[in-house]
Amino acid sequence: MSVIKTISFAPMEGITGPTYRRVHREFFSGVDRYYTPFLAANKNHKFKHRETREFLPYDPCLVPQVLTGKAEDFVWAAKTIADAGYEEVNLNLGCPASTVVTKKKGSGLLADTYALECFLDGIFSATDLPKISVKTRIGFNSPDEAEYLGELYANYPFCEVVIHPRVRQDFYSGVTDLDAFRIMKGKLSCPVCYNGDIRTPEDAFRICDMFPDVHHIMIGRGLVSDPALAKEIRIQSVDVESVDSEKVDVISDPTRPDNELMREFVDTLWREYSEIFSGERDVLFKMKELWFHMGSMYPEYSKQLDAIKKCRHADEYHEQVRKILDR
Ligand SMILES: Cc1cc2nc3c(=O)[nH]c(=O)nc-3n(C[C@H](O)[C@H](O)[C@H](O)COP(=O)(O)O)c2cc1C
Repeated sequence: MSVIKTISFAPMEGITGPTYRRVHREFFSGVDRYYTPFLAANKNHKFKHRETREFLPYDPCLVPQVLTGKAEDFVWAAKTIADAGYEEVNLNLGCPASTVVTKKKGSGLLADTYALECFLDGIFSATDLPKISVKTRIGFNSPDEAEYLGELYANYPFCEVVIHPRVRQDFYSGVTDLDAFRIMKGKLSCPVCYNGDIRTPEDAFRICDMFPDVHHIMIGRGLVSDPALAKEIRIQSVDVESVDSEKVDVISDPTRPDNELMREFVDTLWREYSEIFSGERDVLFKMKELWFHMGSMYPEYSKQLDAIKKCRHADEYHEQVRKILDR
């Protein structure tokens, strides 16, 4: 069993913004590092107010992430973020959205390796930049691209490569390609982080068993679904180290966070979102998105989860939440 040194919360645009991250950290331990959803670096060299709020004030547990296809815009963004105190900036080479891909940003850059090389040359020829990590897929069309992309990344001084082993065409569905992950990782001498489909402590331990030199795992949907997942991984990894590995299954029954804690967590999010959004509709929209993920922890409450999906007013929402969490 390898040691999981770092567990990070993946960037998720529309979900893991500053309010969510702050409240998550207040209620659930276990996450060492959070990433901002992508900050778009454009040619006007100005972040939107909403984007500035993502990384200011300085937070030592946060890695800001930048999305752009232009080296000079990345350099501007990285310097701006470094000026705010950050030692690392993460480059997004994974976003699969068509609006991003067609502009040769995110995973769109993986489809044109010449443009990608020019982009990386431009970034790494700049001086006074913070450390740069990258979050990448294993290819645009096919996992066969993993080897070449790994070789390409190896030419640059990335402080870390976060690999989500899917191609752009997969978006977030289908199975992750662990062979392609191994191939890309094998080409790299810098630290590598694994990201994709970790939903239980067993998933995390399986990845760490398969790849003992991977000490950093990044979790997105699994943590939104079960906000206590990182803590559970930590608890179980201590248990796992102190017991016979054959007993892992006995101690790793699926659990879910205490209802009272979850109730406080979702109620606090409701209150905090109500302070920043002007209307109840926006708050409901945010909470519905969270329950879309968290619902997987409460399969026996499908009726109430359906009602949350459809509800139009705060009191209907709170009534259904009470039914799920007050027992
Ligand atoms: C709604 C949503 C928003 C996302 N936003 C971002 C983003 O801003 N930056 C990024 O690098 N990845 C983003 N991702 C991808 C996640 O960070 C992560 O790579 C992906 O969900 C796979 O990991 P998981 O299986 O642990 O969720 C997003 C994914 C989803 C579902």
